[in-house]
Formats: sequence, structure tokens, C-alpha cells
Amino acid sequence: MMYSRIVGTGSYLPERILSNHDLEGMVDTSHEWIFTRTGIIERHIADESELASDLALQASRRAIESAGIGADEIDLVIVATTTPDMLFPSTAALLQSKLGIKNNCPAFDVQAVCTGFIYALSTADCYLRSGKYRHALVVGTEVLSRIIDWTDRSTCVLFGDGAGAVILKPSVSPGILSCHLHADGSYNPILAAPGRVCNGQIQGSPFVSMNGNAVFKVAVNVLEQVAEEAMLANKMSPSDIDWLVPHQANIRIIEATAKKLSLNMDRVVVTVDRHGNTSAASIPLALDQAAREGRFREGETLLLEGVGGGITWGAVLLKW
Ligand code: COA
Repeated sequence: MMYSRIVGTGSYLPERILSNHDLEGMVDTSHEWIFTRTGIIERHIADESELASDLALQASRRAIESAGIGADEIDLVIVATTTPDMLFPSTAALLQSKLGIKNNCPAFDVQAVCTGFIYALSTADCYLRSGKYRHALVVGTEVLSRIIDWTDRSTCVLFGDGAGAVILKPSVSPGILSCHLHADGSYNPILAAPGRVCNGQIQGSPFVSMNGNAVFKVAVNVLEQVAEEAMLANKMSPSDIDWLVPHQANIRIIEATAKKLSLNMDRVVVTVDRHGNTSAASIPLALDQAAREGRFREGETLLLEGVGGGITWGAVLLKW
């Protein structure tokens, strides 16, 4: 039996920090409202010159360094992003070039919004287990600040920019135990950035629009379902889970999931307070932060799970 295993992590956050107090000067809101409803205190915002591939580059370099490999040993590049540098080429192809990888390895993007990293990790896992590739670079990177309407208080307080990356390698010992991906496209109206490019113009709003209450309810339900599915597939119960590494959208969603799994919050990695919702970047950012703090021990069981526009949702159960 062949598995794939995370052997390196890295992350990057833009320097500029936007606090809730800063937002009080931009829209009719308060630190109190944002913090009690979401758990967010601050988020990072990329400079205008920084693109998703630039954030990805920094995170990838750190992941490559922590894996102790050379960039040219990477033979598969998958980038999850909702805010690509351009319509095409893919952010993954641009990242491959910026990393100086000259081995013509495949590079492609995955778009599953905030579940993007889970989808990308699952895709890489299939390729590595099949024995086709030796080192996959899997990245979640976002400059969500570009598609936020900074006059809309119902969305602008929630999101931030950043990138996280992992290096995945085939391994005879686990590794990723199982991946569980889902989508229900009929929910598309509750969370979308509907604008499209047509004849040199953007048709429809290019900004994130969201029915927050509807997203909240769906998110809590599907996250519980997919966690149960992942545990059942591995004949595990909540007491077998050492760490929950959830998508960082809202502390209330995270706490509700932890409660349903009977997991103490000290076994849950939380970064939403400092990062806000960084969409596809949030899980690898949380993973890298906790890994660098030395919180995970070898052999511990981690449950990664996410939900996002689509609606898409999914989970990855793995041994660290
Ligand atoms: N500051 C102050 N007041 C705000 C506000 C803000 N930033 N945003 C909205 N409000 C107001 C609303 O206008 C509303 O006022 P009203 O009662 O006078 O109409 C009031 O606060 C309550 O709004 P409501 O939307 O019911 O709040 P809520 O408790 O549902 O919290 C969210 C809103 C967005 C925090 C919450 O619904 C949520 O987290 N949803 C999930 C969002 C998410 O995670 N999306 C990404 C998934 S990947």
C-alpha cells in the first residue's frame, strides 16, 4: 500500500495588517461586532503589486526549505486559488516559472474557493499514490482583498490575503489516510463573485456577495457530515482525532464543528483571529503555523476540513 505524506510546510502573509479598528474608519462597523460575530481581530492585505503567485512563491520557498529538497525535485505543482494572477496562464504555471523549475513538470490550478486546498491535496494524493510523481508542491494562495467591495461592511470585515504550501511525497507509511470531496452547485447564489470578462468589460459584480446566514447554516451541517464520513471511512471516532485543522472562516463555525465532534478547543488549530478568512490559503497557513510551533507530533491524527463557494466542502484525514 502506497501513501502520500506531508514532508514540508511553508506560509507567507503580506506585511500590511488591517485591524478591526482600522475598519471602523472605513465602514459603519465596530471591533466588538466583528470580534463577537467572527473571532477576527486583524487580517493581512497584499500590496497592489503583490499577486497570488508572489505570495505562493514565498510560501513555496519555505515549504521547499522545510522539506529539505531542491525546487527542481518538484515534479507536480498544484495551486488552489480563487484570485489567480490572470485569466491564463494558470497561477501554478506562473509559480513554476518563478520557482525556476525547469523540468517541464505539470502545473495546474484548482478552483474550489475556500475548499480549494482540500481539493488540491486530494488531487496530489491520487497522483502520488499511483507512483506517477515523487514530490508534489500543493499551494493555497489568495489576494481576496482584490475582489472585496471595501464599502460593503457585511463582507469586507471577513477576508484577508495570504498563502500556505506543503510538499507531499510518496511513502510506505501513512500519510494521508483518506480524502472526501463534495459539491452542491445549487447553492451557488449564496456565496459568489459573479462578474465575468466579456468583450473587454466586466459584466456583473466582480465583488464577493454572500448571504451570511445561509452560508453559516450550510457550513456547520456539511462540516459535521464530512467529518463523520472521514472518521467512518477509517473506523475512527472523535477520540482518535488529535488535531482539527479547519478552514478559518469564523470562530463560531469552528467551535460548532468542534462541539459536534466533542473535540476540546485546545485540539483545534485557530488562526482566524489574526488572518481572517484567507479562502484556499487558510488551511495550509494554519497547518504551517501549528507545525512550526511544534504542536503536531509524528504519528498524530489530523482532520483537515473546509467549506466554500460552490458550495464545495471536503475533508482530509492524515497521519502527521
Ligand atoms: N458591522 C456592524 N454591523 C453589521 C456588519 C458589520 N460589519 N455586517 C452586518 N451588520 C449588521 C447587519 O446589517 C444586521 O443589521 P440589522 O439587524 O439592523 O439588519 C446585523 O448586523 C446582523 O446581521 P446578520 O447578518 O444577521 O449577522 P450574523 O450574526 O449572521 O453575522 C456573519 C454575520 C457574516 C458574521 C455570519 O452570518 C457568518 O459568519 N456567516 C458565515 C460567513 C462565512 O463564513 N463565509 C465564508 C464561508 S467560506
